[in-house]
Amino acid sequence: MGLFVGQNIITLQQVPSTNEYLKDKLSNSTPLAEGTVIMAVHQFAGRGQKGTSWHSEPGKNLTFSLLLTPTFLNPKHQFSLTVAISLAIAQWLESLLHTAIKVKWPNDIYIGDKKIGGILIENILKGKVWKSAVVGIGINVNQVDFPETFQEHSIAIKQILHKDSNIGELLPDLCKYIEREYFELKNGGFEGQLAMYKQYLYRLGEVHPFLIDGVSVAGVLCGVTAAGRLMIDFNGHVVDFDIKEVAFSVKPN
Ligand code: BTN
Repeated sequence: MGLFVGQNIITLQQVPSTNEYLKDKLSNSTPLAEGTVIMAVHQFAGRGQKGTSWHSEPGKNLTFSLLLTPTFLNPKHQFSLTVAISLAIAQWLESLLHTAIKVKWPNDIYIGDKKIGGILIENILKGKVWKSAVVGIGINVNQVDFPETFQEHSIAIKQILHKDSNIGELLPDLCKYIEREYFELKNGGFEGQLAMYKQYLYRLGEVHPFLIDGVSVAGVLCGVTAAGRLMIDFNGHVVDFDIKEVAFSVKPN
């Protein structure tokens, strides 16, 4: 079967946010094939998880949104798409950079303690049916200067390869990895994907401080549930949390 993810790439020179652009098109009923990619050269008001913003210097990074229609999944299983996309990006980066890639739960992509990419999946449901997913992906490629608050915690492909990369050449390769994991999910491969996702988890098996109700508590990250809840072991007692209930804390109590 031919590649469908990224077969249709629409490149915009300037756009506030590719996710917003794609969602607008969908709400205006613009016919767009599954697998269509909206890619921005300059995304000037990019959005991140939890209402944050995503900064990117013009022309330097991968900033795009992909349209998927995972109608085969129950909307209760939204985390499975997060797993498939995170895995695809992690595996693609590993093959490109030959260095260890981690997924900071739920879907930040890390090298060491620095973030190289992020994912913002926005789902469009119709009643109880999953109509479409806008999969927004940002990967730092050639940008090495970041806004002050991010500088210390950010990394780019350029810092590993020590040279600039061609954004347009990277995208089709990443699309192949996404397509492979998406088909795997479609073919009932979620259990295996979840097991692999766990292998990529940042801080897995390590004692780490977590912020719970504003208090920093040390625990061992020991996995994620199929619904996407983070499992933390506190002295042999495992508790699971959703994204609003826990955060990685940098400072121990
Ligand atoms: C995060 O780490 O918080 C998620 C970042 C997602 C950024 C991408 S860039 C392309 C797409 N359009 C957006 O406005 N955001 C996503």
